[in-house]
Amino acid sequence: MSESKKEVRVQDTHLKLAQIMTPTDANVLGKVFGGSILSMIDLTASATAQKFAGRVCVTASFERVDFHTPIDVGALVTMRGHVSYAGRTSVEVTIDVTATDLPTGRDTHTNTARVIMVAVENGRPVPVPTLICETREERIAFVSGRLRRELRAERIAQFDGLVAQIQAMDEATLTELQTCEGRLLDRLQA
Ligand SMILES: CC(C)(COP(=O)(O)OP(=O)(O)OC[C@H]1O[C@@H](n2cnc3c(N)ncnc32)[C@H](O)[C@@H]1OP(=O)(O)O)[C@@H](O)C(=O)NCCC(=O)NCCS
Repeated sequence: MSESKKEVRVQDTHLKLAQIMTPTDANVLGKVFGGSILSMIDLTASATAQKFAGRVCVTASFERVDFHTPIDVGALVTMRGHVSYAGRTSVEVTIDVTATDLPTGRDTHTNTARVIMVAVENGRPVPVPTLICETREERIAFVSGRLRRELRAERIAQFDGLVAQIQAMDEATLTELQTCEGRLLDRLQA
């Protein structure tokens, strides 16, 4: 008889990582360098995924990350991660990033990031536990994660097809497309 798959509740995947931003995290404008935040996001995703999977997990991809608000040096940056979707060997980790101005205690939610991590053994993907959603919010997040995955695959396939089309174009068409009016996508799909 095959061993039943381990189950982990979403609420047991939550993990918090916090760090004070120092001058070594500053960019030329004196605000926190985006790379410092991306590094913390990656570390949080890694820890969250490994806690969930009970295995080593590697970063497969970052979803788009937008920085809405600059973060000051001296702020306490807190990452709150949890597993929002689990596939066969991959997981989507959602990370909420907050910057706290310590003297005033004022919190600013700076962004939400999503990272896809894959559980591995000897460099090969291995199955992750089943993610148990207990609330409506968790189920919505899971289904949204599954949808994001499908749309990602579709978008990549569509983009690769269009780039192949662009690469086959002659110089005159390429030059015309640089400045043509209207939506380029409509033109390419005409
Ligand atoms: C991530 C990695 C293990 C995937 O290996 P692979 O042989 O391509 O794996 P597969 O094609 O069998 O896919 C395994 C799973 O990963 C997912 N996956 C693979 N590449 C992905 C990507 N770029 N984005 C999102 N998901 C991805 C697949 O959808 C699949 O998910 P599922 O099992 O839940 O259905 C491999 O590409 C790797 O080792 N990459 C380097 C990781 C690394 O070093 N990260 C740090 C970079 S600085």
